[in-house]
Amino acid sequence: MNFDRPAIKGGIPIRTKNNFLVFGSPLIENEEIEEVVASMRSGWLGMGPKVAQFEEEFRKYKAASYATALNSCTAALHLSMIAAGIKPGDEVITTPMTFCATVNAIIHAGATPVLADINPITMNIDTSEIEKKITSRTRALIPVHFAGRPCEMDVLMDIAERYNLKVIEDCAHAIEAEWKGMKTGTIGDFGCFSFYVTKNIVTGEGGRVLTKREEDIARIKILGLHGMSKDAWKRFTDEGHKHYFVVEAGFKYNMMDLQAAIGIHQLKRVGLFLERRKEIWKKYNEAFEGLPITIPADPQPETIHSRHLYTIMIDENRIGISRDYFLNAMTLENIGIGVHYLSIPEHPYYQKEFGWKTEEYPNAMRIGRQTVSLPLSAKLTGQDIQDVIEAVKKIIVQP
Ligand SMILES: Cc1ncc(COP(=O)(O)O)c(C=O)c1O
Repeated sequence: MNFDRPAIKGGIPIRTKNNFLVFGSPLIENEEIEEVVASMRSGWLGMGPKVAQFEEEFRKYKAASYATALNSCTAALHLSMIAAGIKPGDEVITTPMTFCATVNAIIHAGATPVLADINPITMNIDTSEIEKKITSRTRALIPVHFAGRPCEMDVLMDIAERYNLKVIEDCAHAIEAEWKGMKTGTIGDFGCFSFYVTKNIVTGEGGRVLTKREEDIARIKILGLHGMSKDAWKRFTDEGHKHYFVVEAGFKYNMMDLQAAIGIHQLKRVGLFLERRKEIWKKYNEAFEGLPITIPADPQPETIHSRHLYTIMIDENRIGISRDYFLNAMTLENIGIGVHYLSIPEHPYYQKEFGWKTEEYPNAMRIGRQTVSLPLSAKLTGQDIQDVIEAVKKIIVQP
């Protein structure tokens, strides 16, 4: 592959940026650092009062009925599947444009994942494709609010009601999002969130489940801590030792106070971060107008878009350079980029296991092969944004 596009002077490429701009690097302030240090000094590092505080504050932020903290969105999806009663032989419909964790959670519950292609504009599951995929074995839907854009939840919930399906929202990208006044993660039966390092708020690793029903959250709390009876973590508090009883074979999926210490302060800034990402989004939109690339569609009316990923499409037929050439050229310019995602059927495991063919999901296939995520973290400085724009323009020469 020929990477001669970065300007060359005296044989040395001139990079747009001197230091590598890490994709998705989070904005961490002193409050988080001091809270983590305080946890370390207190000696209470594991699951404890800060986890309980973060759990409750996030529940209130989302105006949800019930919430529990876990160590990842992957864990949240897995336990939601179990609490939803998904079993071997069942089918669960989701999107081919997602992170592998969504599909793996279905597999770990013993069920069979079924994919419905995406709408090429919204990049979310195409609701008109869902009904074609429903069989007598279908038990649940997992919509993924891709890039932070909420799925058409009213249509989806109507399908779920008509076919008696559980709905598990994958909100890994969509902490702040709303569909027609309804908050993502509170519309379906379960809402699963991620606080992974690149997400809109972070705890390093971390996750959350919201549920509508008390019995679902109670089961998930128990399953997330080895299957031990209610509030087993309290056995180490000054409330006095309480015996716990193992009531199910659970998992080690709990969050730590060290993680919650970061999350408590990140959550206070969730709105500020979103405003900053909106500004960056607008700057990118303005800068890329007229370039032969596709930029994200505007948010739909009556929605809040979480602005998690700013994705551009690099169509080789249109601009003469491939997406992978562009990825490498951006890296040479010292700009970290991401790919979200190669469509799920591109991966050999799923092809082998389920016989999926990439071409059977043409919208997801095309987008997966053209998409590039540009840096969008609230941490970006004005200079960083300029550098990203300059690098894109340097590589994509106007026709
Ligand atoms: C759409 C989607 N679902 C699930 C996950 C899994 O999240 P976590 O890393 O918190 O397990 C991710 C993480 O990148 C994601 O992007």
